[in-house]
Amino acid sequence: VTGDIAGFAAATFMRGIPFVQIPTTILAMADASVGAKTGVDLPQGKNLVGVFKQPELVLMDPTVLATLPLEEIRSGMAEVIKHGVIDAPDLFADLESGAGTVSSWWGGAGVIWLARTLRVKIDVVELDPFERGRRTVLNLGHTVGHGLERVSGFALRHGEAVGIGMVAAARIAAQLGRADPSLAGRISAALASWDLPVQCPPFDVERIWEAMTHDKKKQGGELRWVLPRDIGEIEIATTVPPKIVKAVLRDLGARRSQ
Ligand SMILES: NC(=O)c1ccc[n+]([C@@H]2O[C@H](COP(=O)([O-])OP(=O)(O)OC[C@H]3O[C@@H](n4cnc5c(N)ncnc54)[C@H](O)[C@@H]3O)[C@@H](O)[C@H]2O)c1
Ligand SMILES: [Zn+2]
Repeated sequence: VTGDIAGFAAATFMRGIPFVQIPTTILAMADASVGAKTGVDLPQGKNLVGVFKQPELVLMDPTVLATLPLEEIRSGMAEVIKHGVIDAPDLFADLESGAGTVSSWWGGAGVIWLARTLRVKIDVVELDPFERGRRTVLNLGHTVGHGLERVSGFALRHGEAVGIGMVAAARIAAQLGRADPSLAGRISAALASWDLPVQCPPFDVERIWEAMTHDKKKQGGELRWVLPRDIGEIEIATTVPPKIVKAVLRDLGARRSQ
């Protein structure tokens, strides 16, 4: 959050001044500090005001993570798992094998996972810095995830919501015949090994749908679905029938509307 706000301030103050990102959470190291997206939320939705602004430098010192609360470590690991699903089968295999524990982080595995995650992120961002195409894959889990964050009143952490969103995306892909049904189970198991939630909280399904589609309706755009077909293989779809999305959310624990 600090990096997103400071980056946005640096991008707009006096039409832009140089800045440095010094991430202090796993989430910020693995994801937010790299890629130049900066911004702030509005009551109407996440990241509604923002610009692309590259930092002069990203400085990561993993020793600062020693004081990071356990829930924040877990939340950050959801975005690490996301990069594994997108384009790092070896990283995903490691995390799927049950090696993913907090003590393994400190045993030296953490910085290796972080480096592999950053390789994926940097490759995607260098290819498509302004999200005109390929970069969309980094939004895996975020369509449902942002909706859940919003309906929870931001009580769900970003990584927790993105994790549930990834499971939903994999189930939607299976419903559309684009992925093997076992894929959602594998993603779920990797998240669960970090004690991350894999079920949707019992929010009203129509409220989640409304929260997901709200911003897009205002921009006149359509929802873009980032669907995993397999580990390391992602597809972008815009035509997912709402009834499939809602059925998947209900299966995951969302409440049927009264
Ligand atoms: N710009 C991007 O590309 C991008 C990418 C992913 C996520 N995000 C955004 O990042 C935000 C979440 O960031 P986050 O998970 O880093 O949360 P955060 O910045 O809210 O930090 C989580 C908590 O950890 C505390 N904290 C931070 N570093 C600490 C440390 N070293 N020791 C002890 N406590 C520490 C913070 O004070 C805070 O209470 C979301 O709003 C999300 O939208 C942005
Ligand atoms: Zn994210």
